[in-house]
Amino acid sequence: MNNTPRKILVTSALPYANGPIHIGHLVEYIQTDIWVRFQKMRGHECYYVCADDAHGTPIMLRARQEGIEPETLINRVAEEHTADFAEFRIDFDNYHSTHSPENQACANTIYERNRDGGHIAKRTITQAYDPVEKMFLPDRFIKGTCPKCGSEDQYGDNCEVCGASYSPAELKNPVSAVSGAIPEQRESDHYFFKLADFETMLKEWTGGGHVQSEVSNKLDEWFEAGLQEWDISRDAPYFGFEIPDHPGKYFYVWLDAPIGYMASFRNLCDKTEGLDFDSYWAEGSDTELYHFIGKDIIYFHTLFWPAMLHGAGFRTPNAVYAHGFLTVDGAKMSKSRGTFIKARTYLDHLNPEYLRYYFAAKLGSGVDDIDLNLEDFAQRVNSDLVGKVVNIASRCAGFISKRFEGKLADQVSEQALFDEFVSAGDAIAQHYEKREFSRAVREIMALADRANQYIDEQKPWVVAKEEGKQAELQAICSDGLNLFRLLIGYLRPILPGTAEMAESFLQIDRLTWEQLATPLCGHTISKFKPLMTRVDPKHIEAMLEHSKEDLAAQQQTAPTKPAADSPLTKDPIADTIQFDDFAKLDLRIARIAKAEHVDGADKLLQLTLDLGGETRNVFAGIKSAYAPEDLQGKLTVMVANLAPRKMRFGLSEGMVLAAGPGGKDLFILNPDDGAEPGMRVK
Ligand code: 2FM
Ligand code: ZN
Repeated sequence: MNNTPRKILVTSALPYANGPIHIGHLVEYIQTDIWVRFQKMRGHECYYVCADDAHGTPIMLRARQEGIEPETLINRVAEEHTADFAEFRIDFDNYHSTHSPENQACANTIYERNRDGGHIAKRTITQAYDPVEKMFLPDRFIKGTCPKCGSEDQYGDNCEVCGASYSPAELKNPVSAVSGAIPEQRESDHYFFKLADFETMLKEWTGGGHVQSEVSNKLDEWFEAGLQEWDISRDAPYFGFEIPDHPGKYFYVWLDAPIGYMASFRNLCDKTEGLDFDSYWAEGSDTELYHFIGKDIIYFHTLFWPAMLHGAGFRTPNAVYAHGFLTVDGAKMSKSRGTFIKARTYLDHLNPEYLRYYFAAKLGSGVDDIDLNLEDFAQRVNSDLVGKVVNIASRCAGFISKRFEGKLADQVSEQALFDEFVSAGDAIAQHYEKREFSRAVREIMALADRANQYIDEQKPWVVAKEEGKQAELQAICSDGLNLFRLLIGYLRPILPGTAEMAESFLQIDRLTWEQLATPLCGHTISKFKPLMTRVDPKHIEAMLEHSKEDLAAQQQTAPTKPAADSPLTKDPIADTIQFDDFAKLDLRIARIAKAEHVDGADKLLQLTLDLGGETRNVFAGIKSAYAPEDLQGKLTVMVANLAPRKMRFGLSEGMVLAAGPGGKDLFILNPDDGAEPGMRVK
């Protein structure tokens, strides 16, 4: 592999400064950190920068709710974030804030250059306004009744019950989530970034191998749909930067968020002798720039961001690498199940190295979601790390300490085996480079099996008892420890904490990739101490319980999820569920015992469903296709374990399944004769 030194700048997405880091976030920071550590270990000049994403309405309101200044909130959260990252060994070269003078300067430059290039337009828009709080309301701060399914208390942009997306103007009975007031519609001047000006450049850039193939397909759809102007301004009151030539107007948080990458690097340059900002950001730069992000924020990073950079005369990224979401035990992280686990809660119970390893073992270069299966997590860490890797050292070290005063043999005895381990390094390095960490882990574990097999065959514990076999014993154990050293070197980007302990046990400097091929000969090591303990399932249980408790407490104070107020932050790649989700549906045959009209409802019929010994009341939106008398006595299929939902007309205790384009052509499912009420549908 060509290993000419490179200059690389790497970023992870900036976490919002109003909430804690959780294990979902950690997928990305661990992924990026592994990649950066690998690059550094290969001898490249690589910088990893990040910052807190400190602006926007949710942060302003959160501070207001706590009765503190936004600056106080973001400083407190920054301390919590940096402490969490440090314990997970996310080794940023700089961690800054978007609420910083560097970011204001960079944001102004990018805005002014785009403005001067004619890429900013002014338009008057009409928007919901809270007359009590005297502020315009982002979509997520308007609540009301879903225009599609009638569920109450839904956000202004989408319904969490039926999944419909809509505009806040369509929401019925809207109220401000901030004050409870009924919003007014008011006009205001806004500033827009003319994304379509960059269509040619963006098509070239996105088609030029700078994004993953799944992302490229999604981008084709977005190009097809047409690039819309992007509203980059917000009215006061807003926690952010005032737009230079427009008092009372602020940059939208998503304008200055990615600029935070630059600002953090600028801040690093100011502290680092000889580190030149321009050589990393100027147009035509020969350094490399990579952004690791979640798939929910692809639009911002592959369209707005490269366009803004280009419009301002800066270089564009070499690549944007998106990853998938984290599920826990096959399902979305859930507060009630305790699987919405904060980084801090994890750290209170488990070793961060376990999670780094497990995520690495699951991560590939694509945008697929990854699942943290807690049973598999314990099993895998115990069997791979404790049972295979650490075990090699513990099987060999005792003999070297006790019989040879800690001194390894003067040469490698099984040279072929050692060489096999060294030459596997090229493939492992390629996997790391391509972010195929699960493949790297597989190769490394195959080597660990090989090393254990060698020890099993050589039986040092038998040789130790035989007369005159001292040299042989020393050779076997020294070889074993040299293989262990190689494995630790290969795992170093993933397990920096364990590697440090191993380096101190082997009495060696921090391992680099280049040194790995040179074995330790005639070298003295120190006494072996266990490098890692087994995962105890009791600790996992305790962590889940702890998560349930602290999130229950937090829910009482946290108003909304710390989301960007933008419809562009959903999963754009796949709207799929896992099989486990599907399997949760309890589908039952039901007899429609009674069907009635509902006073005041245009679309609903009220059904009394007989489940063979149990009846359920269900409101079904099928009035356009059926008269009550058509239905009475018929069998149909219902979802029997849907949580009951309070509707305007009463409690709905399930859902009947129907299919068809709608209107008159809507058909409830009719199971075959022979089906009995209450039967499970398989
Ligand atoms: O989605 C988020 O959590 C944002 N705070 C990410 C910002 S990334 C970058 F653009 F700053
Ligand atoms: Zn709905």
